[in-house]
Amino acid sequence: MTANSFLAPAEHTAGEITIRAYRPGDGPALQRAVVASYEHLRPWMPWAKAEQSVEESEALCRTFAGRYLLGEEFTMGIWIGDELVGGTGYMLRWGPLEQGNAEIGMWIAAARAGQGLGTRALAAMIAWGFADWPWQRLVWLCDTRNIASARTAERCGLTREGTFRSDALAVDGSRRDTHLYAILRPVSARQGGPFPPVVA
Ligand SMILES: CC(C)(COP(=O)(O)OP(=O)(O)OC[C@H]1O[C@@H](n2cnc3c(N)ncnc32)[C@H](O)[C@@H]1OP(=O)(O)O)[C@@H](O)C(=O)NCCC(=O)NCCS
Repeated sequence: MTANSFLAPAEHTAGEITIRAYRPGDGPALQRAVVASYEHLRPWMPWAKAEQSVEESEALCRTFAGRYLLGEEFTMGIWIGDELVGGTGYMLRWGPLEQGNAEIGMWIAAARAGQGLGTRALAAMIAWGFADWPWQRLVWLCDTRNIASARTAERCGLTREGTFRSDALAVDGSRRDTHLYAILRPVSARQGGPFPPVVA
């Protein structure tokens, strides 16, 4: 299976949350969520900006939508009703799609953080990823100082496989260490059998 032959599913619902590809028109919701969450995101997400216009956000949503259709990366919003409460995605940072490796990234809006949403969203991304996507291995990276991120991975059953030393720059420009967490497609799913949903 290659990026050209794989038609990515666009949407997944798990309880109150819907995880879906961005669409043209999502810009205002993205702008609201990101700007209101700046202080919360800034320590960990290099892309966070204090100011981001609706036009810039709309352009980002259209870029995400285009790259999704092309199978280049799969960036998605996490929604509760009409409210964008976070972002996630399957990123192809560990080789092309046919190798079956994806990295999950995630942010939860400040007003919604610390209420179990990140855990539920990651559990949904794992269950969906092994049920409807070709992933064999899902990876989660986090700054070793990011306790919330590490705990979210651990609660969802990912294994810490190691720690890269001084492998990246923190947002303040200092060098940082990174934990690598991963989870493998269950053997039953690899053999085509039923896959039990991940329990958070
Ligand atoms: C990391 C993040 C996605 C987790 O989502 P969340 O909805 O806030 O997390 P949850 O409420 O599901 O909590 C998951 C775990 O993190 C812990 N946690 C949440 N916020 C925390 C905080 N500020 N400090 C320490 N631990 C925290 C929770 O207690 C829970 O651990 P526990 O099971 O030991 O009690 C979210 O906090 C976030 O967007 N942070 C900023 C961006 C970011 O760091 N993204 C991840 C990059 S790898």
